[in-house]
Amino acid sequence: MSLSDPHIDTVLQHSGMAIFDPDTHCAPVAMPSMRTSTVRFANMDALDKAQAAKGRGERVATYGRVGLQTHAAFEQVLCDLEGGTRAYLAPSGMAAISLAMLALLNTGEHVLVADCAYGPVRYLDRTVFSRMGVEASYCRASPEALEAAVRPNTRVLYIESPGSLLMEMLDLPALVQWAQEHSLVVVADNTWGSGYIYRPLAMGVDVSVMAATKYLGGHSDLMMGAVVARDVGLNRRLGENHYALGLTVSADDVWLALRGVRTLGIRMRQSAAHALQVCEFLAERPEVLQIFHPAWPEDMGHALWQRDCTGSNGLLSVALDMSPAGVRRLIDALTLFGIGYSWGGYESLVSLVDPAALASHSYWARQHETRLSADCVVRLYIGLEDPRDLIADLKQAFEVARQG
Ligand SMILES: Cc1ncc(COP(=O)(O)O)c(C=O)c1O
Repeated sequence: MSLSDPHIDTVLQHSGMAIFDPDTHCAPVAMPSMRTSTVRFANMDALDKAQAAKGRGERVATYGRVGLQTHAAFEQVLCDLEGGTRAYLAPSGMAAISLAMLALLNTGEHVLVADCAYGPVRYLDRTVFSRMGVEASYCRASPEALEAAVRPNTRVLYIESPGSLLMEMLDLPALVQWAQEHSLVVVADNTWGSGYIYRPLAMGVDVSVMAATKYLGGHSDLMMGAVVARDVGLNRRLGENHYALGLTVSADDVWLALRGVRTLGIRMRQSAAHALQVCEFLAERPEVLQIFHPAWPEDMGHALWQRDCTGSNGLLSVALDMSPAGVRRLIDALTLFGIGYSWGGYESLVSLVDPAALASHSYWARQHETRLSADCVVRLYIGLEDPRDLIADLKQAFEVARQG
């Protein structure tokens, strides 16, 4: 670490700062929310220059949709986190996924999707791809399995690591090498790592998508997504589609995200440390059959996590040796965990993993533990509460579930 190569924690505090006013030579520390629907120019020459720069693919606003300084500042932070050259904001993580897919796939083409990817990607396929004549197939994200599924019209490999529901770690460098041999564009959902603890672009992935709704915003008060890439041609394609699809984000939401991201590091570290303490507690419980959390030494992906990640987060799933009714009693008895689907905020959450979704993940089928029941997998998001309180809450909920 040095001033020429600062630590990411330092970058997070200085990236996207407001520039000094040329007259007053001062600037706000915190970027204000620049709300506007359009942009005005001092004269026609200025407008012509802006249009020309836009034509060259530069980030220039000639209308409100792309956003002004607040948007540009957050985009810069995302580029610095991910090691990209351009970032495009979208109104949700799902919209960011759609943007990447729609920008990269044409009618008659095929996308290979890691079967551990965020479930609603399959919904996008069923509702939009199917109408557009874009084919998708789902498969275990290993070079061997992909080799059997690749087609002459495959253009994109879409992956998510660690995967949704069971946090399956993928071997990104191996997947990138395989994809390059087949001239595929690799898109990775990096919501788990949020550019802080995992950097897919640095491992050769072409496009990173993230739900800023989770850790980047960090306070459960906004929905946003981002697409980040490095290559000029890909950036241009993403930029054209972003503009054409009208994917605009409110400056106020971007302002919240920019404020949230300054503390990304401490929030993620804290949440990850608490999650490990909860894992230690869970590992001692007789009801717990298996813990899915890559930073947990017994997780099947632990070695890949140690190799490729610089940290972890608060997400974990747990397979329980209980009746489905007992699992429901357990969830209902929790007082500090909200029953809900999101993660990455300050508060802990719990959800019952959908057995049908698990059945479509090859990773589930590959678990050694034959006693695992798809009806009894619970996902916990460990937030910033004192972990001793969370553990006490889990302990009393296990008692309630046992007695019921
Ligand atoms: C891994 C992952 N990617 C994408 C999304 C979609 O984000 P959003 O809810 O902002 O559309 C989610 C949401 O849960 C997610 O968990």
